[in-house]
Amino acid sequence: FETLALSGRTVYITAGPTREALDPVRYISNHSSGKMGYALAAAARDAGARVRLISGPVSIAVPDRVQCVQVESAQQMLDASLEGLADCDLFIAAAAVADYRPVSVAEHKIKKGSEEIMELHLVKNPDIVATVASSKNRPFTVGFAAETRDVVAYAQDKLARKRLDLIVANDVSAPGIGFNSDENAVTLVGPDSVESLPQTHKQQLARQLINRIARHLNEQAKT
Ligand code: PMT
Repeated sequence: FETLALSGRTVYITAGPTREALDPVRYISNHSSGKMGYALAAAARDAGARVRLISGPVSIAVPDRVQCVQVESAQQMLDASLEGLADCDLFIAAAAVADYRPVSVAEHKIKKGSEEIMELHLVKNPDIVATVASSKNRPFTVGFAAETRDVVAYAQDKLARKRLDLIVANDVSAPGIGFNSDENAVTLVGPDSVESLPQTHKQQLARQLINRIARHLNEQAKT
């Protein structure tokens, strides 16, 4: 028998956007479709892992034999990520988490007033992947970096700042890749490695990423 790269491993993957409510009918969010995270979940499953997908609101189907926890806000995504984390071997953060949320959620629909300019007060959300990476008995932790310039330099900075094992950098300003497209092109950055994976379908890219991440994880487990 060929041993699968992630057999016996438990993998958590965050995917999709978060929604930060302003009032009962409005929210702040972004264009993440969940395609990248869902493709990673299917690829990790095919590599033999037990997979828990922690997903913001998206309109794509959950892959077979993948457990999915549906969440809306960053706080809910954090709570779901910490649940059972002691049993998690590999955490991959592909979600586009809102960095800020409204300071308070209005109980009733906010009415249009006479003023031309409306001010919103926002407060920083918890950083999910950084919280996971600094937890006790942390899993091997992989982040994504959505950048529009100096992609590798900013990714290296995020890798160090969030104490990640690896980071997958994508240029979200390039047409046809990144948010909501079927394809992506990334650079996998480690503490002393940089590898570019050229543009291809997210499913194909997810398999390439899972193979490489598993190799790094299994190397680390040996040392
Ligand atoms: O969903 P798709 O349409 O397929 O698009 C895929 C994608 C472009 C969303 C994906 O490839 C991607 O880049 N995901 C990360 C997007 C992002 O929010 O990047 P960031 O550079 O702002 O965040 C860096 C890392 O910290 C990410 O792993 C993010 O999940 C994590 N983070 C950020 C903020 C926060 N409060 N908590 C977090 O865990």
